Amino acid sequence: MYSEVTLNSINESGPFLTTLLLSVQDRLGVLDECLSSIKNLNISLTRIESRPSRTPGWDYDFFVDFSAENTEQIVRVSETLKGITNQVKVVSASPTNATVGQVPWFPRKKSDLDTYANKVLEMGEELDSDHPGANDPVYRARRSEITRIAKTYRHGQPIPDIQYKPEEIATWGAVFRNLTALYPTHACREHQYVFPLLIQNCGYNENNIPQLEIVSKFLKECTGFTLRPVMGLLTSRDFLNGLAFRVFHSTQYIRHHSRPLYTPEPDVCHELLGHAPLFCDPDFADFSQEIGLASLGASDGDIEKLSTIYWFTVEFGLCRQGSDIRAFGAGLLSSFGELEYALSDKPEKRPFDPSKTALQKYIVTEYQPIYFVAESFKDAQQKVREFAKTLNRPFSVRYNPYTESVEVLDNKEKIIRYTQNIKNDMTILIDALERIN
Ligand SMILES: [Fe+2]
Repeated sequence: MYSEVTLNSINESGPFLTTLLLSVQDRLGVLDECLSSIKNLNISLTRIESRPSRTPGWDYDFFVDFSAENTEQIVRVSETLKGITNQVKVVSASPTNATVGQVPWFPRKKSDLDTYANKVLEMGEELDSDHPGANDPVYRARRSEITRIAKTYRHGQPIPDIQYKPEEIATWGAVFRNLTALYPTHACREHQYVFPLLIQNCGYNENNIPQLEIVSKFLKECTGFTLRPVMGLLTSRDFLNGLAFRVFHSTQYIRHHSRPLYTPEPDVCHELLGHAPLFCDPDFADFSQEIGLASLGASDGDIEKLSTIYWFTVEFGLCRQGSDIRAFGAGLLSSFGELEYALSDKPEKRPFDPSKTALQKYIVTEYQPIYFVAESFKDAQQKVREFAKTLNRPFSVRYNPYTESVEVLDNKEKIIRYTQNIKNDMTILIDALERIN
């Protein structure tokens, strides 16, 4: 069920990206009537989505998005629609950054990530002709079945489990055996520390594909990160925006069984073996969120720089650990061949420096000729934070973990309130220090 936004509790000014939920009974022309009544109010819709209704007594739910100038306009649209169906709810009304100038829309609260549920660039249900499963109708049907979960998933719901088939478990098993043999000598110490905990707590083993829900709950306990199912590749902007809320968009389907050690796209092996372990590490989680926060409302050019930094760290990053270099990027930790190659003396290795890394061109279809080596996750976070200051964005943001929302620090009152919060925290710290003394 969707909770309704109380409009008189909103104390920010519009415009608002608004989502209404209309439940209707199946009769000829009902959608047309709803849309015409909105059009008569001179409102342009930006999205319409339908699905079978979850509300008893109603046949279909329609989600409609539009930009409202103020809360009065939202009320006007709702009241008009109530003349056609009395089941109308305002499920979201997020300020669209008008106060900070012309910046691209970005999610303000975790539930705004629902906007991305149907927005995928490629893969998902459709496969490129060179995908190993492209000509396998059984595999394609299975993918559609699994991606339907991501399509209908909404914030706050548990992620439905998948009953993986023996053939899928065998594919996972082959990947698991090959990679776990390399981890002791190739993975960074943070990955090695967490992996046995995932075996103990989340059912990681070669005969079981862990469920996203159980892994997500475990991550949440460790660092507040959660997983969210996704149909396929999101745009860089949408994907990075998710990280700002400590949400990692994760696929649930598995690569084609004909080539267990190859996949042209992220799959459940990549997500759970490569990404999930690192999101249990507090410093890595902070680092990832830092990239995400920098991406909110960033220009297209800056998104390209941030996604390049993401590519050379979260996906293909190396880090120095004592006298060794180890892998922490998920693209490496989930690829048997590239993990060995990256740590050999064949590729070039350069120190991680966001201002230079952000401009480095990369290839997605072959092993990387260049990798970047971070000194530590903390050091990388600090460097990304400094780099973010050079980006072309007229405001700063902070994440509020209590409300799971992002605050735009674009006026004095907000900054004073934030300062007051820090002052309160300082009081607690001083008290704690005095008690220790
Ligand atoms: Fe990835």
